[in-house]
Amino acid sequence: KKNIAVMTSGGDSPGMNAVVRAVVRTAIHLGCNAYCVYEGYRGLVIGRDEEKQVDYIRQMGWEDVRGYLSLGGTLIGTARCKEFFERDGRLRAARNMVVNGIDALIICGGDGSLTGADRFRAEWPSLLEELVSKGDLTKEQVAPFQHLNIVGLVGSIDNDLSGTDATIGAYSALARICEMVDYIEATASSHSRAFVIEVMGRHCGWLALMGAVATGADFLFIPEKPREDNWKEEMCQVIKTGKRKTIVIIAEGALDRHGNKITPTMVKDLLADGNGLGLDTRITTLGHVQRGGTAVAYDRMLGTLQGVEAVKAVLEATPETETCFIAITENKITRKPLMAAVKETQEVAKLIDAQRFNEAMALRDTE
Ligand code: F6P
Repeated sequence: KKNIAVMTSGGDSPGMNAVVRAVVRTAIHLGCNAYCVYEGYRGLVIGRDEEKQVDYIRQMGWEDVRGYLSLGGTLIGTARCKEFFERDGRLRAARNMVVNGIDALIICGGDGSLTGADRFRAEWPSLLEELVSKGDLTKEQVAPFQHLNIVGLVGSIDNDLSGTDATIGAYSALARICEMVDYIEATASSHSRAFVIEVMGRHCGWLALMGAVATGADFLFIPEKPREDNWKEEMCQVIKTGKRKTIVIIAEGALDRHGNKITPTMVKDLLADGNGLGLDTRITTLGHVQRGGTAVAYDRMLGTLQGVEAVKAVLEATPETETCFIAITENKITRKPLMAAVKETQEVAKLIDAQRFNEAMALRDTE
């Protein structure tokens, strides 16, 4: 019987619980034992805390994941774990995997978490060797675990990985952004004010761009379209006084063409004073409301379908198979090589389509 573990890692995202539920139940359905690693890589590194009598790697039954679909966050916990990025942390993690008899690991997280997983898999033989040579494990103990089988699922609100149309959580965060901008619009119109709304996304502008399209924002700053030197004049030209409301959306990673950060305060100061605009302006940082809360239907569906596929992928993998992740492309759930997607993400921005960008932004209100 194979022992398959699932873990969530990095920033939580809506839909991660759907993944955990799908992996646990599919594994059991296909005759395997299902495990959860609690608290991300931190839990894998610790394994068991003797003092607190806590096991971070726990076997799961069918009923243990009841109700998971409709709850937000990740119920098995997550962490941004520095120890795992050191070899010593990975040695401890490998030991805990062997001691608990885990054959395969399914990880739902962002590109950093998945890159860490690929490294863990590449180092696996040397980690086992070192554990045996140090006397932490015996040759007999490691013998059944010669190959580590890992599959990734992209859980992130940022939608920042190439090779998949959507990451798990992105549409929930986008829905939350729209809801929040709608609320802000009501008060902005009441006071004839301007609002600069900062949205998450780290180095990626997908949430900001789609949020701007979906709410009809007046102006937008995203890292993939670094603003030219004349951005101040450009913005002042677009945003005229006399409108009842003005909404500017700024991605947290917004840049100018020299790579300098454009901040909400810079934009606010300009709206308030620049070129005679003199708008009564407020800044709203949406922050973690974008990440919390329940998942929209799309993310529950995506997490479930991809979770099922991830279990099938670990059962079909051979030692020669590259580390893969589960993608959705043109509405089909597929397996793709992980590191190629990570590399492509670093080389080409996912969402540049200048023409569509300009077309969408031209639909703003003029009065
Ligand atoms: O990657 C998801 C994300 O929410 C980013 O959009 C944001 O930059 C970051 O995580 C915030 O991280 P933390 O929750 O650790 O502050």
